[in-house]
Amino acid sequence: MPLPTCYLNGEYLPLAQARVSPLDRAFLFADAVYEVLPVYAGRPFRLREHFDRLARSLNSIRMQPPLTHAAWADVCGELAARNGGGDLYLYVQVTRGAEFGRNHAWPENLQPTIFAYATALEPLAAEILERGVAAVTAQDIRWARRDIKSTALLANVLLKKLALDRGAYETLLLDRGYLTEGSSTTVHVVADGVIRTPPNSHRILPGTTRDVVTDLAARHGMPNAATQVTEAQLRAADEIWLAFSTRGVLPVTRLDGAPVGSGLPGPMFRRMHAAFEAYVRELADKPVL
Ligand SMILES: Cc1ncc(COP(=O)(O)O)c(C=O)c1O
Repeated sequence: MPLPTCYLNGEYLPLAQARVSPLDRAFLFADAVYEVLPVYAGRPFRLREHFDRLARSLNSIRMQPPLTHAAWADVCGELAARNGGGDLYLYVQVTRGAEFGRNHAWPENLQPTIFAYATALEPLAAEILERGVAAVTAQDIRWARRDIKSTALLANVLLKKLALDRGAYETLLLDRGYLTEGSSTTVHVVADGVIRTPPNSHRILPGTTRDVVTDLAARHGMPNAATQVTEAQLRAADEIWLAFSTRGVLPVTRLDGAPVGSGLPGPMFRRMHAAFEAYVRELADKPVL
């Protein structure tokens, strides 16, 4: 498959021709932040929320957003169009830029590197919605500012690999006996008819899909609460869901080899999944900003 068209520092070009300096601080220090946002039928989903979060990540690392939301919307729209429209996901990264010297404390006035590209979003296998996915648990070994969507993802990478090594889809992370999130997902836990997810804090990434779940729960009268979830509550849950941009919500039906609830996607999941799909359709003709 030919590599798609990407965006690099103001230009659209074939990804195969894109070049960045090995002195870029993203390469040397992972001194960069990113976003991943879905595009449904050519329309970027929750664009404002993704670029609000990018701005927060940038501010947290003492950078300013290099583009306005309107300019980001143009880049996303252009990338979607140049890559065939349809269902895609966009990866957007802003780095602190390149400098000669490899100074931990960066010099001021660096030129940020801005990179974005699109990938086709393959349809979800029907089996996943029918049977759910497996997850395992592990200690959350990441740093103390998980609210920053940093490209420094080595811990997440190792934790995700652990899941695949064990034939599972995701690793759910525990920090001092409490659920934080998945290695690349927000986790929602259903018990006694209430959807619970840990509150936003420095301990987790504030998920954009989580906010969609919260909005849809309110709209459809499904009890929803941002509260701490203990390991015992996680293991006793009736349902566990993963929420993340590229797939919306997915049901976890096995945890560390044991069935979650009935061992099949639960009724609350089915309602939320239907609500999510209807919401995507409802937005189809709405402006992206
Ligand atoms: C660590 C982590 N938590 C949560 C999420 C979910 O965030 P979002 O719903 O905005 O994709 C992600 C997404 O990649 C993530 O990497």
